Parts: sequence; structure tokens; C-alpha cells
Amino acid sequence: MGAHKVLVVGGGGREHSLCLALNDSVMVGQLYCAPGNAGTASIASNIDISPTDIEALVGFCIKSHIDLVVVGPEAPLCKSLADRLIEVSIPCFGPVAELAELEGSKLHAKQVMSEVGVPTAGFKILNNTAHIDSSLDLFSEYPWVVKRDVLAGGKGVLVTSDRSEAKEFITNAIQTDGKVLLEEFLPGQEASMLVVMDGSGFVCLPPSQDHKRAYDGDLGPNTGGMGAYCPAPIVTKSVHQKVISRIVKPMFEYLSKLTIPYRGVLYVGLMITDSGDPNVVEFNVRFGDPECQITLPLIKTDLFTILHCASLDKLSSLVVEFYHAHALTIVLASEGYPSQPVKGRIVEGIPDNMDVIALESSWVNHAGTKLAENKIIANGGRVLSCSAMSKTLSGAATLAYDLINTITLEGGHFRTDIGGQILNAKR
Ligand code: AMP
Ligand code: GLY
Repeated sequence: MGAHKVLVVGGGGREHSLCLALNDSVMVGQLYCAPGNAGTASIASNIDISPTDIEALVGFCIKSHIDLVVVGPEAPLCKSLADRLIEVSIPCFGPVAELAELEGSKLHAKQVMSEVGVPTAGFKILNNTAHIDSSLDLFSEYPWVVKRDVLAGGKGVLVTSDRSEAKEFITNAIQTDGKVLLEEFLPGQEASMLVVMDGSGFVCLPPSQDHKRAYDGDLGPNTGGMGAYCPAPIVTKSVHQKVISRIVKPMFEYLSKLTIPYRGVLYVGLMITDSGDPNVVEFNVRFGDPECQITLPLIKTDLFTILHCASLDKLSSLVVEFYHAHALTIVLASEGYPSQPVKGRIVEGIPDNMDVIALESSWVNHAGTKLAENKIIANGGRVLSCSAMSKTLSGAATLAYDLINTITLEGGHFRTDIGGQILNAKR
């Protein structure tokens, strides 16, 4: 017990929350984070290696006798980090490159869903600018949904009712990528289901709901996520059962039979219709950010044990337990986020002792932060998030908003309506 050495790859809010939970584990002796942020610096050793410098990461793991690598973002997985770690017999939580293509290529994900029979929106591939108008006509009943077939850091999807905007996006995508997907618009409500999976079994974590638009009332541009809460009541028992039988089980059957099965977390982005039928909007091959920040605190079972078992195909031997509580997080973003975030400003007012996560408490998840001369500096678009856990969702919202109101960042902005849809509906 307590002797394991763990490397977390990445440096955002998701990785800080992974480090907080792993730091809490009696199984973890030494925790590293590459490259980490100002938050991980106080609980892990930050290692100055880029998440996409695969050979440097593998070299560090060998030299430091790492027992488990937990990969936060998708890019290292698409660049074969898991494949390389398997070659040198180091357990890795995160799938091999071939399976990371479920996120790396929207077209590949569509092909797998079609093969496996998973419900998702219909689509058309466009590779000729001469066919744009006729194709837009085919999908003109609702807003147009256009998806690039590359990893585009959250900027690869356009949902718009503006025909000229859709045409411009499609033309640019065909010119740069050779092709683009035009997808049927799915009306409904979104939810995120994180499923820890390996060759032996899967565990569905409590479903959550992200707030993707930049401003209150779901207005403004799409972002990586401005806040989230967990569990999401939109995923009722009946919806949950449908998600498992129509999506998770068929995906598990497919992924567990491969030579190297899926070992990691499959993020199922759902659109739930008014009649309670779930469709897949996207798969990601990693924890969501900020969903991770409010899902991990609800897991009662030791996180190291879960991730380590999943990296070794031993998940089916585990019983994973959860707290019956609610968690909510609010993202503080830099001025100009998401288009042109201003970096380099000082973040003030973060209380001390923010490394303890408990019921009826709040804490800070650092994201784009770094330390300079003992000050915390904003170093990215999403700077940090304030999270809380409570017996009720409104209790968690009050705690998290009380905390974010103590923190100052010039030009910083956050949404004031995280969880609002549920909270208002209840009032
Ligand atoms: P994605 O990166 O595929 O998750 O898309 C980003 C966001 O665009 C999603 O979170 C949805 O809000 C929206 N979106 C994507 N695909 C669709 C669709 N087929 N119908 C409606 N909205 C969509
Ligand atoms: N919050 C959405 C994502 O992580 O992709």
C-alpha cells in the first residue's frame, strides 16, 4: 500500500482533479504531473514535459519506475502514448491510438456506431465545394451541424442557422482537410456519461451536464465547457437503462473483443430527445473537462484502484461505489475566452487549504494557471473552476458561487446560471 508511483499527463482542470483524487489514495506514494499547473504543483511533482512529447514521457516513466500512467487529454493517445507504454510494460489508463480515433476522427466514430448499431445523427460527407448548396438543402429543416474530421481543440464543430456561415466553414474545411461532415441536427437535451472500460467490464460513472456556451442563458460561442453539475436528472432511470442497452453495452462488446481492448474512460456525449431516447453526439476517449471535476468527487471507491484495474483488464473484479450527493463546478475564464484569451494576469483571492474535497465543502480546480514569484498567473482560457459538493444541488451551487465570488481576475468572466435549469425548475 502507498508505494505506487503515478504519472498524470496533462495540465488542465481535469488533470488537477485527477491529481486531487489520486493524492487522496492510500495506494499512491508518489504523484507526478506533466506538465501540470499551479494547483498540481502543491500535491504532485510537476514535470516539464509536453503531453505530446511521447518519447520524453515514456523515457521519464522508465527512469522513474512509474506504476501507472493516467492520460488526461486525447492528443497523446492519438499520438500512441498508450501503445508505447504497453510496449515497455507500463500500465496506462487511456486507449491505444487505433481506439483513440473514436475521438480523433468523427467519420471513424460514425462508421463504428453504424457497425455496432448505436443511435446517432445521420450524416453526409462533403469533399467537393460544388455540392455544398444541394447538401445544405438536404439538411435545411433545423440548424446545420458541420463537423471537421480532425482534432480541432473544440473548434471543429459549427452549429448554425446562418447559411453563409455554414458555407464558409464547409469551404474552409474542404480546403484544409479534404472533407467535412454535414450532420443531421438532433433536438433535445445534452448529458455526458463517462464510462470506465477495459477488456473485462465497464463502470458507468454518474451522468453529468456541461454548459458549453460562453454566456448565461446558453448564449455566445461554444467553449470547452463553462461549468457542470453531477448527477444530471435528465438521465432518468429509464434513460440510463436505454443508454446502457443501446450504447454502452454494444460499444463494450465491440471494444473488448479487440486484440488490445479499450482501457480507459469512454466519454459518451448524449443528446436525449423529448421522448427520452438517447443519441450519441460524440465519443471522447478521455474524461470530460469540466465534467471530471464534479464526477470524481462522487466516487467512493479508491480512484487509483479503479484506474489501475482498468489498465490491467481487471475492472470486472471491482465493485465501484458512489456517494449520494451533488457536485457542481463553475469555470472562471480569461477575458477574450474562447476566441482570444488574455494571458498573464494575476489571480487573487484563492483561499488556502483548497486541497481537501468533502461533503458540504468547496474547493478550487486549477486549469490554465502557473506560479511566478509566488503569485498565481492566468496562463490559459479556462483559468480555474470553483467546485463544491453538497447533499443538494442548490447547496453545491451556493458553496461554489460563494467561493468564485472571493476570487478576482481582471477581465475574468464566469456564468451565473450553472445548474440553473434544474434549480429554477425546482423552485
Ligand atoms: P461535438 O464536438 O461533436 O460534441 O459538438 C459540439 C457541440 O455541438 C455539442 O456539444 C452539441 O451542443 C452540438 N452538436 C453537435 N452535434 C449535434 C447534432 N447532431 N445536433 C445538435 N447539436 C449538435
Ligand atoms: N466538456 C466537454 C469535453 O470535455 O469535451
